[in-house]
Amino acid sequence: MTAIAQAFSRYLPPKVVTNDDLSKLMETSDEWIQKRTGIKERRFVEAPTTTSDLAVEAAKGTLEQLEGKPVDAIIAATLSPDFDFPGIGVLVQTKLGLPEIPAFDIRNQCSGFLYSLELAKALVLQKQYERILVVGAEVHSTGIDLTSRGRDIAVLFGDGAGTCVVSAEEHASSRIPALRLLQSEMHSDGAHASKLWCQHIGSAHFPTRVTQELLDEAKCFPTMEGKKVFEHAVKRMVEVSHSVLAKEGIPASKVRLVVPHQANLRINTMVGDALGVPGDRLFNTIERYGNTTAATIPIGLSHALMEVPLHPEDYILSCAFGSGFTWGATLMQVV
Ligand SMILES: CC(C)(COP(=O)(O)OP(=O)(O)OC[C@H]1O[C@@H](n2cnc3c(N)ncnc32)[C@H](O)[C@@H]1OP(=O)(O)O)[C@@H](O)C(=O)NCCC(=O)NCCS
Repeated sequence: MTAIAQAFSRYLPPKVVTNDDLSKLMETSDEWIQKRTGIKERRFVEAPTTTSDLAVEAAKGTLEQLEGKPVDAIIAATLSPDFDFPGIGVLVQTKLGLPEIPAFDIRNQCSGFLYSLELAKALVLQKQYERILVVGAEVHSTGIDLTSRGRDIAVLFGDGAGTCVVSAEEHASSRIPALRLLQSEMHSDGAHASKLWCQHIGSAHFPTRVTQELLDEAKCFPTMEGKKVFEHAVKRMVEVSHSVLAKEGIPASKVRLVVPHQANLRINTMVGDALGVPGDRLFNTIERYGNTTAATIPIGLSHALMEVPLHPEDYILSCAFGSGFTWGATLMQVV
């Protein structure tokens, strides 16, 4: 028995924010952003839309494809929950009107969706659950410093959500092609935690987590050592991709499509080059959505599975790298 991921769906908030829009808020330019990152525009929520709202809108598209078959667990990945606690899993459960099924929350940032697939696959193959709703969702726009001080990070991120359902089945019933989950590998190295993190607010701060200094000095925003993150991202995504391909015993030339995490177009081009995968077999959405962290891969797969001509047995590879550091790759095959 294998595990499949099916019924991919996405939701992007309607408000489009272009690079020119950002250049009215901070010292940046469309030229700089496109040249250094590939991003042309991204989506931002408007009040009162939250991360769980985006997740729910995407999940409706997934559940609708299941034609009444129930899900019996939720795994939800985000670094931008509606509240410090509880996580978004329980909010998604109640907003969708689902019964009192378990809701797991995953905190692995840009690798969060692949980590969630890994967990979902193990749980369905173990027969602990039959059909797991897997969610990747983020609202970054209210958590970044949209001034010149935060421009290195602010121009990169956008809001959005993607979902699918994982089950232990041979055949899919969803309208959108399903993916068999083959080889996968996840990693972490917390020694690099401070290279990309949101240090405040957290329990490492005394005597209280929120201080006036924190607010005055804008210490509540994420910080990043961009060049170091870039170098590690390329190295690790290439390494882990080679590793899952070797486990399956296939060369990269056999992969029909790579649907990687979307942090920087230059990162993905370098990963493609190192793997020997040409641009027409690399599926990117960063130009229109920026980096939506845990949501990039399900959003990318929901587009790719509808828009790219695919055949049963075609191999699809996803790889991700992010804060932690965490990274991983999952090799899939069209059902
Ligand atoms: C962030 C990133 C795009 C910056 O690109 P870079 O080529 O490394 O640019 P640098 O950080 O060296 O900055 C170059 C210059 O541009 C400036 N700059 C930074 N952000 C800018 C912006 N938004 N607009 C204009 N100029 C900017 C810098 O201040 C610097 O100026 P200086 O040379 O006068 O000091 C790149 O490092 C990156 O993509 N890193 C990885 C990001 C990532 O993957 N994050 C998420 C992981 S999942």
